Amino acid sequence: MIRENNKLFALDTPTTSYLFQVNETGHLEHLHYGRKFQLQAGDLNALEDKHRHTIGDEPAYDEDHPTLFLENLPMEYSTEGKGDYRVPMVVVDHDGGFTTLDFIYQNHLITAGKQTIPHQGAQAYGSVQNCMSLRVELRDSQLPIFLVLSYTVFEDSDVILRFSQLINKTDHHIYIRKLDSLQLDLSDANWDLVTFNGAWARERIMERAHLRHGSHVNESRSGLSSSDHNPLLLLARPDATEKQGEVIGYNLIYSGNHKEEVEVSPFGKTRLVGGINESAFLWKLPSGSTFTSPEAILTYSTEGFEGVSTRFHRFVNEHIVRGVWKWRERPVLCNSWEAAYFDFDENKLLNLARSAAALGAELFVVDDGWFGSRNDDTSSLGDWFPSPQKIPSGLSALSDKIHNLGMMFGLWIEPEMVNKESQLYLKHPDWVIAIPGRKPSVGRHQYILDLTRKEVRDYLYDAIGKVFSEADVNYVKWDCNRLFTDLYTVNDEVRNMGEFPHRYVLGLYELLDRFTKAFPNVLFEGCASGGQRFDLGMLCYVQQIWCSDNTDALDRIAIQEGTSYGYPLSAIGCHVSTAPNHQTLRMTSLETRANIAFFGAFGYEMDLGALSREEKQQVREQIAFFKQFRAVFQYGTFHRNRHGNITQWTVVSQDKRTLLVLWNQERMTVNGPNDILLVPEAEDGALYEVLSRPQELELASLGARVARKVAPLTNLSKNPNATVSASMEHYLVSGGLLKYAGIKLPEQFLGCGFDADSRILGDMGGRIYLIRKQ
Ligand code: GLA
Repeated sequence: MIRENNKLFALDTPTTSYLFQVNETGHLEHLHYGRKFQLQAGDLNALEDKHRHTIGDEPAYDEDHPTLFLENLPMEYSTEGKGDYRVPMVVVDHDGGFTTLDFIYQNHLITAGKQTIPHQGAQAYGSVQNCMSLRVELRDSQLPIFLVLSYTVFEDSDVILRFSQLINKTDHHIYIRKLDSLQLDLSDANWDLVTFNGAWARERIMERAHLRHGSHVNESRSGLSSSDHNPLLLLARPDATEKQGEVIGYNLIYSGNHKEEVEVSPFGKTRLVGGINESAFLWKLPSGSTFTSPEAILTYSTEGFEGVSTRFHRFVNEHIVRGVWKWRERPVLCNSWEAAYFDFDENKLLNLARSAAALGAELFVVDDGWFGSRNDDTSSLGDWFPSPQKIPSGLSALSDKIHNLGMMFGLWIEPEMVNKESQLYLKHPDWVIAIPGRKPSVGRHQYILDLTRKEVRDYLYDAIGKVFSEADVNYVKWDCNRLFTDLYTVNDEVRNMGEFPHRYVLGLYELLDRFTKAFPNVLFEGCASGGQRFDLGMLCYVQQIWCSDNTDALDRIAIQEGTSYGYPLSAIGCHVSTAPNHQTLRMTSLETRANIAFFGAFGYEMDLGALSREEKQQVREQIAFFKQFRAVFQYGTFHRNRHGNITQWTVVSQDKRTLLVLWNQERMTVNGPNDILLVPEAEDGALYEVLSRPQELELASLGARVARKVAPLTNLSKNPNATVSASMEHYLVSGGLLKYAGIKLPEQFLGCGFDADSRILGDMGGRIYLIRKQ
């Protein structure tokens, strides 16, 4: 709901309210973002910033307003030159380095629904039933340069979306040095900044630090939204926990260089600005034209981090992900990468697929290596036709065979890249991003194609689209395996090299748009060396994203948990891989690996045919279990209840009748305290049945002595793969007990006694509990 009364704007969602007003000088003064309350007469005056006195050396806005200091006014936007020395949201060079502007309110418009801007790429969507928008137009006090601030309120997810536009109505071009998507000025600085940082193979690890005076920057300059610093950012009260306390969530719907800056002013106010990174950005805006920023979203909750992530999950599933896969359960996949890397032929693929189909997988993905003469990562990117050596009967024959096994057929592609060793490069060396006269840098033996150029996009669309149609492809993994350097283009539509990074992203979005529209039934999964481009921009086109190249279960706990703060589980690609793990060499049981991977778009990335009979049986049961509860894992509400060494993740079905709880210990504590299963999500007054998922214990992992105790009749030397069923737990308990007291779990094996109820877990051991309301 958006209301305007006497130039006071109230943007309400069911639990939040966002208030600002046009002040006496025509600036937009921010008044409140947070918990919703009933506005009474008199509130407005109380909410306004009070400026009655001059302040030392601070410049006042003008002689008529000697006590109005923009430096200390909470505002909806800011620019340079009029005494606000905090980080600006807009910087325009309108005359040879002259950047002073002063945007003053002109008019506004409130409409039902949400505006879509043509040729702008990734954007959220909504209908007249579930959202409402406001557009406020401001003009510089002197020049016909306009700033438009747009707001959309999404009732169903408590989200407010913002973007901004600059319109140049002068008779000459101007340069935009910076145009952020939003600015949020908060009245105090008692916030912790929470960001999601990392690198390749350790993406989106949550970090939290209290704000101090000055600026904190969260940014990417590598051309991708990056695994170094995801655009997702939270501001939390220092006492905020998973379930309680005030948290503000921010994210950007963008896949390129982004920058968020949080600044605490000398007066203890906090400013958040976020949008396209101004580094390497300079946009030439000709007379009469408009530049539009990407969209950014905000949410707010008093229910801690969980409140924010639940809202974001709902928003992403409802207003970002689109097409036939929206709210649809994702197929259990089997991917060839860690099973075979580049080393396969058609027979090997078929064998992998047969064993996957036999165990219940629904989608077989041929990862890297199927095209051109690609046998390692030095060649063939760009040559999008099946390798005659590896797949002699062609992709459509292979696809038919996979379909005949009852599985969907998926393919890996990396459209944005080219190897020098390729037919494409021989023909079009000038399609590569490079600066004339300089040797371009290289990453993974590959170069980036200039997607700002229409002929490049057309080639990719034609070549790859042909493969998709001929081979009846049902799933595509869209990869991107290097970062950007040597930013330059010969495309003369790009008026200035400072436009190039953003125009590349728009070119990428255009290409993704063409593919996703032409192949509406295909399930797309994004990927960039794992999770280098895990963002809401990509999720406007792809329905899920490969979370990380690191498939180690222990590392995945932090990676998946960090990702879950902003992104729904249905969008997070999670695979079970082999042990020892290929990235960490860590040994983890097959059951634990599955328990962690269940919380997402689940699959396997290993040679399932090479498993022992016992392991195959475990996989068969894991897949069957997952299919039964897939809707809960992917679309239930997700709760993080970490306590020390224990990761506890819970998903609750939409009807709240089914709960699945992961209880996993990172490290075994010998003779430790009682383990208690406390489930805060249970409902007091209800009755629940609690069952542990049947799991197998690999006897060899226990050592001969313990194995003899646990399974005296099994001869390990005869069958080194032998397993035994883990103890089962079964309880019928009240919701109040689950919620407030917790179930005291049976003791863990600790080297002394043992009986049929002992839980043998070890390091990285745990269980899934299936909890059903009676
Ligand atoms: C990237 C991806 C992997 C795999 C390889 C193939 O690293 O993240 O999953 O597809 O490329 O080269």
